[in-house]
Amino acid sequence: MPAISDTVVERVRVLRQQIDRHNQLYYVLNQTAISDAEYDRLWVELQDLERDFPSLATPASPTQRVGATPHTALGSVSHTVPMLSLDKARTELELRAFDQQVRDLLGVSDVAYAAEPKWDGLAVSLRYEGGELVRAATRGDGYTGEDITQNVRTIPTVPLRLRRGAWPTVLEVLGEVYMPRAGFEVLNRSGEKTFVNLRNAAAGSLRQLDPGVTARRPLRVVCHGIGSAGEGAYSTLMHQMAQWGLPVSSELAVVSGVEGCLAYYQALQERRTELGYDVDGVVFKVNDVLLQTRLGCTRTAPRWARAYKFPAEEVWSVVEHMEVQVGRTGALTPVARLRPVFVWGVTVSHATLHNEDEVRRKDVRIGDTVVVRRAGDVIPEIVSVIQARRGTDAAPFVFPTRCPVCGAEVVRPAGEAVARCSGGLICPAQRVAALCHFASRRALDIQGLGEKLAEQLVEKGLVQTVADLYDLTLTQWAGLERMGNQSARNLMEALARSKTTTLDRFLYALGIREVGEATASALARSFGDLMAIREASVETLQQVPDVGPVVAEAVASFFREEHHCTVLERLQKAGVTWPTPRKAEAAPLAGKIFVITGTLSSMTREEAKTRLQTLGAKVVGSVSATIDALIVGENPGSKLEKARALGRSILTEEDLPGLFGIETG
Ligand code: IVH
Repeated sequence: MPAISDTVVERVRVLRQQIDRHNQLYYVLNQTAISDAEYDRLWVELQDLERDFPSLATPASPTQRVGATPHTALGSVSHTVPMLSLDKARTELELRAFDQQVRDLLGVSDVAYAAEPKWDGLAVSLRYEGGELVRAATRGDGYTGEDITQNVRTIPTVPLRLRRGAWPTVLEVLGEVYMPRAGFEVLNRSGEKTFVNLRNAAAGSLRQLDPGVTARRPLRVVCHGIGSAGEGAYSTLMHQMAQWGLPVSSELAVVSGVEGCLAYYQALQERRTELGYDVDGVVFKVNDVLLQTRLGCTRTAPRWARAYKFPAEEVWSVVEHMEVQVGRTGALTPVARLRPVFVWGVTVSHATLHNEDEVRRKDVRIGDTVVVRRAGDVIPEIVSVIQARRGTDAAPFVFPTRCPVCGAEVVRPAGEAVARCSGGLICPAQRVAALCHFASRRALDIQGLGEKLAEQLVEKGLVQTVADLYDLTLTQWAGLERMGNQSARNLMEALARSKTTTLDRFLYALGIREVGEATASALARSFGDLMAIREASVETLQQVPDVGPVVAEAVASFFREEHHCTVLERLQKAGVTWPTPRKAEAAPLAGKIFVITGTLSSMTREEAKTRLQTLGAKVVGSVSATIDALIVGENPGSKLEKARALGRSILTEEDLPGLFGIETG
């Protein structure tokens, strides 16, 4: 055994002290002073030291306990069966080691696992006697928890009495109390109280001395365990519990072996942000309850279960600077420049705060430590400020009254969340943004025209409106910075190609406020030609599916502007053209919905999309049961699996000519 130096002893003492303090904050006071990642680092360091120097391990170490000593204000409850914790696999390798250990201990070659989300909430136990809910308790330190019976009784999905059935006289179930994201957002906006994240909100709402407060909070429960399980399959037990009226997960699946576990993990991670509640990983449990009993438990956790966490979805960073960006419609968006953090495979250096009210509500200041979250593919946003880390000199952010780019007045109509620069097209920022949007992939798809180039064009006064793009000469293009003759020629070719488009794309490219891709398509389909849209009244526009009064007004007011109409006419004069969308019944692919994935060799995905749209088809981004077919190119990725699972037809590039109605060979 290695010799123990004073430094090691001291380090272990400091780590224990820190972990105890953070446990106390987290479990008892519902506060957070470090990120999950930092906490995990402390924990792992302590665990490693205790493993290397076993003589330092003591039963009082936080690694040997499951939670924290409970709050004293609520009554305490001792658990008849201790509420254990879960061991974690941090890597795929560790998960494989878990499966190996299970198989070795049981002496079998294959194991079926029940897989379900790991909810990020609060563990509770619910006790039913004679079918009636008699007690609910928090986990506490695993042996003694807090009595939260009155609070849990206010959660609508918890049955106070089990439905008819052969339930045991005494039934103790384990579950998780959590808060769905939608409810959390409403709660945080209500101003009653601001929570750092969903878990804190759930904990703070549940552990109230006044159950009346809990009753007003949007809490849910999901059950994931049973006190004394007997025999059978875990999945069957869960099904049984659902029949008694207890909420169980709709995501529960039985998978085969570690490969099945990994596939489930992958699939759930992809849908993570669509679930509507926070899931921080997956829990795998040996499905056969008899085998669970044979495997038993360690002091702190069952040997038959493992948690495998997803990579963090929330990270912490520091706000270095705050600024306001001006968008294409003049909307001012406050953006925080962050101390760069490498996460989600990219370096995150800024996060949005959406609008003025959000900055005020979240009270974000320069120098603040903030929780940053990325939901799906969208830009990271600031969720909240860690108040405990705020310095004394942090000054509140002052929203500008003049546009930071052109100096025009900032206007914010009463009742609207968005403040806008009133400079219109004289504002260079709006012109640059309008150009970028016009040229973007889903609009006219002018390859090579990005933000840097757009800035130069506006700065040098070469382009006032998008129509000017088509008037620039080769010499003018080639005269721009970082543009050689060849790139200039490429750009002119891209511009020439962009002239043949569809009405859908053209309408979208104009950047009319409130008109996204879907609305542009709906307008194109309903009216068939641009003139009809230009002349339509607000009432007529509202006849279009999904067009309400706000969108209709935005469209009508866009075409009321003289200078917009001049731009349209100049674009058409420059040769921008599109086929008249065929009347719905005449279009050969009308009503068909496609998804395109992977790399095509004979054309870009955008080109394929345009052609399909021209034939009346709809092209959407994600695979669901409503699509007709998935068109796959090289390296298709997960969409292919999903389409197969849903039984959708799969087409390859070779099927395209047939779809387009082109005779071949
Ligand atoms: S099973 C014997 N299943 O995670 C312990 N726990 O980190 C059985 N948790 O204390 C726990 N989702 O509160 C189980 N699907 C799930 C879970 C889950 C979340 C919580 C639970 C546990 C903690 C351990």
